[in-house]
Amino acid sequence: MSNTTIADRNLWAIVLGVSSGFGKEVALELAKSGYNIYGVHLDMGNAKDKAEQFRQTLEAIGVKAFFFNVNAADDNKRAEIIEHIQKDREKDPHHVLRVVIHSLAFGAIGPFFEEDFSKMLKKKQIEMTMDVMANSLIYWVQDLFAAHLLAENSRIFAMTSIGSERAIISYGAVSAAKAALEAYCRQIAVELAPYKITANAIMAGLTDTPAAAKIPGFEKMLKHAREHNPFRRNTVPQDVAKAISLLVDEKFYWITGATIKVDGGESILNFIESM
Ligand SMILES: NC(=O)c1ccc[n+]([C@@H]2O[C@H](COP(=O)([O-])OP(=O)(O)OC[C@H]3O[C@@H](n4cnc5c(N)ncnc54)[C@H](O)[C@@H]3O)[C@@H](O)[C@H]2O)c1
Repeated sequence: MSNTTIADRNLWAIVLGVSSGFGKEVALELAKSGYNIYGVHLDMGNAKDKAEQFRQTLEAIGVKAFFFNVNAADDNKRAEIIEHIQKDREKDPHHVLRVVIHSLAFGAIGPFFEEDFSKMLKKKQIEMTMDVMANSLIYWVQDLFAAHLLAENSRIFAMTSIGSERAIISYGAVSAAKAALEAYCRQIAVELAPYKITANAIMAGLTDTPAAAKIPGFEKMLKHAREHNPFRRNTVPQDVAKAISLLVDEKFYWITGATIKVDGGESILNFIESM
């Protein structure tokens, strides 16, 4: 594995969940810093067109951008994308995959227990949530590693939430996935440290995105978080994008296996229980 600097390398980032919310803003910020982008998303109809427009926006900045509209948890699709990246690298000896962003929102929202049993989350929903929102991180990193696509100073970031630490109504399956995701980041950090590859979880504050809007009572939670945040506003995807654009720097290699809060101090307040 070779040492990489922006000066002599064509740096790439792969963003899982590139078409919306945090993934989109991180891709934009990294593109502005000169990163080429592989984006993975799962969209239909209007959202699919918007994703393509966003891809063109990235290219207008002057970087390359390849998007794949597929289920990131599908083993065959992952293999195809990794093959695509390998072919790019064969053509370009300066190609380096420096950043991996896991920002997939595809969780089943609902209670584990309900008087009406039919409303309780089912095994299939819980397994799907764990697979997309947690396990897929490991499968992507394993396959990228096995394909020798990760390099010294590659940085892996996975989006987590306060649900990893606290119970939130209807969020049980996602909470479990977030706890697993943070554990996976710690494990990746330990096992890939010998290769000088780092992995961290980013715990964003409550942010108005399409995925979060599906949580029951989300508007109320957002308002409460805004009113109690020390900065008196909600987190926006750009806050996370700015943080990650700094953390990718080679200087920060000593930060690994951490869960880093990017929330303006929101989580130090007891806002969810006090609602
Ligand atoms: N919004 C919040 O308040 C908040 C706070 C903390 C952490 N997070 C986490 O941030 C991550 C991103 O969430 P967001 O709020 O930006 O959501 P979002 O809905 O804005 O974006 C989700 C992205 O994931 C993609 N996606 C979903 N399922 C996919 C699949 N199976 N395969 C490929 N792509 C898929 C979508 O196409 C989209 O690009 C999630 O893990 C979420 O739990 C969100």
